[in-house]
Amino acid sequence: MKDFIFENKTKIIFGEDKVELIGKELRKGNIKKVLLVYGRNSIKKTGLYDRIINSLKNKNIDFVELSGVKPNPILSKVQEGINIAKDNNVKGILAVGGGSVIDSSKAIAAGFYHNGDIWEAFEKKSKITKALPIYTILTLSATGSEMNGNAVVTNDQTNQKWDFFSKKVYPQVSIIDPKIQSTLPKKQTINGAVDTISHVMEFYFDPTKNTMIQDEISEGIIRTVMKSTEKLLQDENDYESRAELCWSSTLALNGLLSTGKMGGDWSSHMIEHSVSAIHDISHGEGLAIVFPAWLKYIQDDGVEKLDRFAEKIFGIDTGNPKFDAELGITALKDWYRKIGQPVSFSEIKITKEQLIKIAENASQIAPFGKMKKLDYKEILEILNIAY
Ligand code: NZQ
Ligand code: ZN
Repeated sequence: MKDFIFENKTKIIFGEDKVELIGKELRKGNIKKVLLVYGRNSIKKTGLYDRIINSLKNKNIDFVELSGVKPNPILSKVQEGINIAKDNNVKGILAVGGGSVIDSSKAIAAGFYHNGDIWEAFEKKSKITKALPIYTILTLSATGSEMNGNAVVTNDQTNQKWDFFSKKVYPQVSIIDPKIQSTLPKKQTINGAVDTISHVMEFYFDPTKNTMIQDEISEGIIRTVMKSTEKLLQDENDYESRAELCWSSTLALNGLLSTGKMGGDWSSHMIEHSVSAIHDISHGEGLAIVFPAWLKYIQDDGVEKLDRFAEKIFGIDTGNPKFDAELGITALKDWYRKIGQPVSFSEIKITKEQLIKIAENASQIAPFGKMKKLDYKEILEILNIAY
């Protein structure tokens, strides 16, 4: 295990009917005017919007709005938000949504103080030195954005879906109320489950040795996600299963699993971001296709870990590690198929020619990967395995 510092300042308020606490929390933080950021129509359709507005009004918190943040969020919307925040001199951001809304809010919060174009932070050309305080109400558990410092945004001029990390944009408070996620379409619950499992696997398949505690926690999270997802596909109002899935998702990417490791591999995510930048499919779908292909690609070097994965997650143990590694990857694909995810590009009508564009796009930030270093040629090979 490597040395590490673990720090996470986000306060989590978890439980049923906790949404109304938002006004009180903002008051405690002495924030009297916020930019309320949300997506397209779900927040109004479900009645959540009215509940939030009432909570803000009850505590005399003034607000202006930025609505219409779309999945795979775009830079031009972030810039619109920065302008509204500046023109109205807000003191904080209230993000109500999933990863797309929270990530956009982080970029707005940092862009508020940034001298120049906030895209420079995604290009790693400048560091974020200050950000508005961020409060979130999570409506879709998937990305862990409610308790981390990552933001992923697509530059709609260049089609680059890039990320930044900054300690300055960890949310101050995140409210996770599993009940409000029962309105999610089944497809979004599935996407969230696949994203969560993928975050765990990014850290799990890391070359660091002697990380038993991290690995045991990881396996526990993956098994919990699988069980809870299967139950939710039978009954989306099963509160206990939803709660398990929500908390698993936050724990998967709040820094806990990266402790003592080399930071995880992250190749599958880097490749997937280029897939969803170009084809506008959901992040969870892209990962269900790319991750098993990447596992196949690293199979020979990763036999030991894959063998363990197969046993701990799927109970596979024939006594032949190489064979079990192979069976483990197949079992993962089968499970994705079972919950209704595509597992190949051909299923979603992405052609072999289009894979070249994706590889070119992803290789702009290459080389990447800890298990194996990937550049254009290797990325294209993985994409072809996923065909
Ligand atoms: O726009 P509305 O109408 O609100 O509908 C949304 C959206 O269409 C809907 N939705 C959300 N909550 C709902 C709901 N519908 C009904 N009831 C509710 N309670 O769900 C749709 C998808 O939302 P989105 O925020 O895009 O999903 P997700 O949370 O999966 O976020 C995905 C984005 O986050 C990035 C992904 O790349 C992608 O752009 N990621 C962010 C990370 C991070 N910040 O740490 C890490 C991840 O690996 C990931 O890259
Ligand atoms: Zn992800």
